Amino acid sequence: MTQGDNIISIQSVSKHFGPVKAVDDTSFNIKRGEFFSLLGPSGCGKTTLLRILAGFELPTSGEVTIDGQPMSTVPPHARPTNMVFQSYAIFPHLNVRENIAYGLRKRRLGKAETARIVEQALELIKMPGYGERRSDQLSGGQRQRVALARALVCQPKVLLLDEPLGALDKKLREEMQIELRQIQRTVGITFVFVTHDQEEALTLSDRIAVMSRGKVLQIDHSTRLYEAPNCREVAEFIGTMNILPGTIGEVSHGRANVAAGTHGAFEARTDGSAPRPGTPVLIAIRPEKLQMSWERPGLSVNSLAGKVGAVAYFGDRSHFYVDVEGCEKPLAVALQNGERRLDGSDLVGKPVWLSWEPDSAVLLPA
Ligand SMILES: Nc1ncnc2c1ncn2[C@@H]1O[C@H](COP(=O)(O)OP(=O)(O)O)[C@@H](O)[C@H]1O
Ligand SMILES: [Mg+2]
Repeated sequence: MTQGDNIISIQSVSKHFGPVKAVDDTSFNIKRGEFFSLLGPSGCGKTTLLRILAGFELPTSGEVTIDGQPMSTVPPHARPTNMVFQSYAIFPHLNVRENIAYGLRKRRLGKAETARIVEQALELIKMPGYGERRSDQLSGGQRQRVALARALVCQPKVLLLDEPLGALDKKLREEMQIELRQIQRTVGITFVFVTHDQEEALTLSDRIAVMSRGKVLQIDHSTRLYEAPNCREVAEFIGTMNILPGTIGEVSHGRANVAAGTHGAFEARTDGSAPRPGTPVLIAIRPEKLQMSWERPGLSVNSLAGKVGAVAYFGDRSHFYVDVEGCEKPLAVALQNGERRLDGSDLVGKPVWLSWEPDSAVLLPA
């Protein structure tokens, strides 16, 4: 990879607040033009990492490089970054036009040029004709778009966004996600986007870094994170994952035989290097990869007997929670309601069989 591919390089960065390791010896790169998300539960260090990129916090140790330039002695206003916050940080005493133009003040442009750029920005955020509106005449979504426009007219190389859609209701948030992605594609600026909402990260991002307790657990594309998580924490943070403990037995031709106590043995696919026989592992299966049936399935697939304990209805799909002897938690099975002919609640208490293809399971370190 040439140096030009990465716009941000984070090298062994830590940030300690007293005993709290908010960011704990983290290293990774962000590519030029990428929509990159930091995803993780509240308190895992996302905001701290973003503030380090912006220069509002100095790392306790480590180094950040942006566009080839080490940042350790560069103050926030001199960095090629700009930040958009969760709260609607636009000036209440200025109208929309003045708010956006505020971003341009440092560039000392003429009146006509300023007006032209502001008009362009209003087009970009789909708010032409809103220039004279005061901020109290705007909805939450519109205020956030104005904040975005104000940050973008500064032409930063990197835009840092800290849960910018977090205060919006679900419907509006989903609309804004699509718009945000379109805007990012149009301007081509690198976005570093912080969220604790996994669906939001999956929809928007080119790549996602999943964080936990100040560390990055996995960096990958949405589909890889969902289909091939590298550990239990990532698997359970992104969607729902059923987990069965087991021990690796014989491995051949990309297939492992996994002994799972009283459940017998299961077949699972191994990606690349397989763990050694005798290694404890976790068999992880997504709810939509489990089939539920009355009859015991054929021998070519993995199967387990259980009893339906509860049903959760989500409209488009339902989750059936199946109690299986020896499993600490019920296994979740997702069924699309378009294909389902039975009323789910009728099934509670019924014995069923669960089955899955060897390729549908992922092996995780125990
Ligand atoms: N200025 C600060 N002083 C002390 N502790 C802080 C400060 N900022 C953040 N923290 C702590 O660092 C950890 C990470 O916080 P933060 O980066 O805000 O997480 P996130 O944005 O993922 O919710 C938390 O435990 C938080 O309490
Ligand atoms: Mg935060």
